[in-house]
Amino acid sequence: MTDLDVERLLSELTLEEKVALTTGATAWTSVAVERLDIPSITVTDGPHGVRLATPSEGFDLTAAEPATCFPTAATLGSAWDLELLERVGEALGVESRAHGVAVLLGPGANIKRHPLCGRNFEYFSEDPVLSGELAAAFIRGVQSQGVGTSLKHYAVNNQETDRMRVSAQVDERTLREIYLHSFERAVKGGKPYTVMCSYNRINGTYAAEDHWLLTEVLREEWGFDGLVVSDWGAARNRPRSIAAGLDWAMPASPATNDDVLAAVRDGSLSEADLDTAVRRVLQMVARTWAAANDRPEVDDDAHHALAREAAAAGTVLLKNDGDLLPLDAQALRGAVVVGEFARTPRFQGAGSSLVNATRLDDALTALREAAGTELPFAPGFSVEGPGGRDGDDDALRAEAVELARGAGTVLLFLGLPAVDESESYDRPRLGLPENQVRLLEAIAEVNEDVVVVLANGSAVSMPWAARARAIVEAWLGGQAGGSAVADVLTGAVEPGGRLTETIPLRLEDAPAFGNFPGEAHEVRYGEGLLVGYRWYDARAIDVAFPFGHGLGYTTFSYGDVSAEVRGSGAEVEVDVRVTVTNTGSRAGSEVVQVYVADPVASVQRPERELRAFAKVHLEPGASHEVSFTLSGRDLAFWHPILHRWVVEGGVFEILVGASSRDLRTSAVVEVEGEEIVLPLSPESSLAEFLNHPVAGPLVEPFLEHSPVPLDDPQLSFFILESQAQTLATFGIPGFDRQTLADLLAEVERRSAG
Ligand code: GLC
Repeated sequence: MTDLDVERLLSELTLEEKVALTTGATAWTSVAVERLDIPSITVTDGPHGVRLATPSEGFDLTAAEPATCFPTAATLGSAWDLELLERVGEALGVESRAHGVAVLLGPGANIKRHPLCGRNFEYFSEDPVLSGELAAAFIRGVQSQGVGTSLKHYAVNNQETDRMRVSAQVDERTLREIYLHSFERAVKGGKPYTVMCSYNRINGTYAAEDHWLLTEVLREEWGFDGLVVSDWGAARNRPRSIAAGLDWAMPASPATNDDVLAAVRDGSLSEADLDTAVRRVLQMVARTWAAANDRPEVDDDAHHALAREAAAAGTVLLKNDGDLLPLDAQALRGAVVVGEFARTPRFQGAGSSLVNATRLDDALTALREAAGTELPFAPGFSVEGPGGRDGDDDALRAEAVELARGAGTVLLFLGLPAVDESESYDRPRLGLPENQVRLLEAIAEVNEDVVVVLANGSAVSMPWAARARAIVEAWLGGQAGGSAVADVLTGAVEPGGRLTETIPLRLEDAPAFGNFPGEAHEVRYGEGLLVGYRWYDARAIDVAFPFGHGLGYTTFSYGDVSAEVRGSGAEVEVDVRVTVTNTGSRAGSEVVQVYVADPVASVQRPERELRAFAKVHLEPGASHEVSFTLSGRDLAFWHPILHRWVVEGGVFEILVGASSRDLRTSAVVEVEGEEIVLPLSPESSLAEFLNHPVAGPLVEPFLEHSPVPLDDPQLSFFILESQAQTLATFGIPGFDRQTLADLLAEVERRSAG
């Protein structure tokens, strides 16, 4: 901690110096004020590697210092392993310090709303609980090294198309229960030093100018006490942004300092608001400067080994017919390797997260080393775009088919070309390139033992799944991903991953289909709460592979779950216990997933929602009791009229299993909810008045004069559903407009009492 006396400095800074401090000195550094010994700090991207830009001509994203390229969030998230995320975060914190970086710009916690989002590789999940908990673990890891993080992109940045301007039109419950929820968990669980606001608008207001988002929710409700930085170029109006709670407009934009000076001088921006922003910039410098200047040595080998471990832990074995995998030594020696991605790995996404890897493992070399022989290889297809390889696909396919004919297992490496997925644009299609699918089909004609290994940043459709006996989803596994895949294929390590996003059968089945990426600078979140598995489950839509799915090299059984309720209302807690047993012949891990269903509610609720998870590692035959405590918030929904979280009483179902569609055991609990009293107004119905604890007894006497018999189920409906202000004009004795006004005043008085 640099002992900056923030309050003293604030009192000694000139107005011009204060204004200058609320933007950068360069694209990556804060402003130093030598006169007062205020140092400058450096920030840089993340999230899965330190991309410290080196001076270069033009906008060359590859010109960066070498650093470990860890698996991307798509892979890391698929490990469902908070302890692992913390260790990766720690390593990134050490590398940040080694490069003199004070804040690492990550993690990304945006929800994977649609599989075609170009940046899904940088995000963890379609589920807010999983996404938020993983992001929190990453933050804790990095910040354990004294380096800050920047939780991004806050908020509702779920596409790249028109990201600088698009307005995400989202209803309040969906916003709270899904898109903000991921950030809320990350803020509360990780306590990031900074939060990065997104480019886009939310219901018409730019995130960078949204006081409700940046101050009322983030700070006043969630208790965030750090700094809000803009995404690069997102602060379009710095005075309005500072007033909203955006403290640091990046990159350096000194040309707009005059806007801030003028606003303070004309009173449209209070100097107190400016001081608040400056205070947070100074606090960020104070809390990170020391870590960024102690320059520890980096153990590149250890970090590479960690990247390899993490990649295998996030590799998802989707299918394994006849336990074709893992390959034993003999099967491996008889295998052939096909696919350019085995030789030229796809290991990270593109855009600001691009890391200059310290080294790069390819699966072909790793498999040959594991086999102890020069396994035959054929590229099989050309790869378009940067880093691609041209070629005659017909010839390449013919060559690969000949290699596969009569061979043992075919290890077929397919995936999305780098040009398909990147920051700043969305994907053109859900499927693999046509030349790859044709190759797979041609090979499957001559050899039935095909293992498909995929390299892609987010879900691809798999109409060809039946042509492969095994499918390994390796996502974008970082610089050690090639070795990790070899470890998994040979059984040196298990595939430890589970899906954090649903793999749909067709693009048309996806929740946001028809509402992505929007038009005329607006995108309607028409699916509402039903994002990801919530959608497919509510509509009983078949999927290729469900959220939470993943196979291992052993099997697990589940005992009966027990669920005990303690307390009531918002303070209720539910203790959940279940015993899992490794029923297979080798050690392995299982991700125990806990979902909650609220089948009877006054609002629409998803079929079931992930509320807790734990990854357990067990030896063959070993058992372990896994326990969870669900809080009231885990049962609550956001009430659209009360504008707060509410635990509504009734029956809840606790479901535990190995995926959202492989639920092994469940328990039903009865919960005493909190008293929910909806506000009354002249527009309220007679039924709402009668149900109100205070108004009910007051309005009953008028019912004797009801113009229709209230015991008639049809006719009474008209009266009970009529607005009070309408009934007050029906000439009901003693129930006129004045009576209604007096009644509402009395309810107000008694409710306040
Ligand atoms: C980019 C990205 C953000 C990144 C920042 C700095 O536009 O949206 O994730 O951290 O600018 O490169």
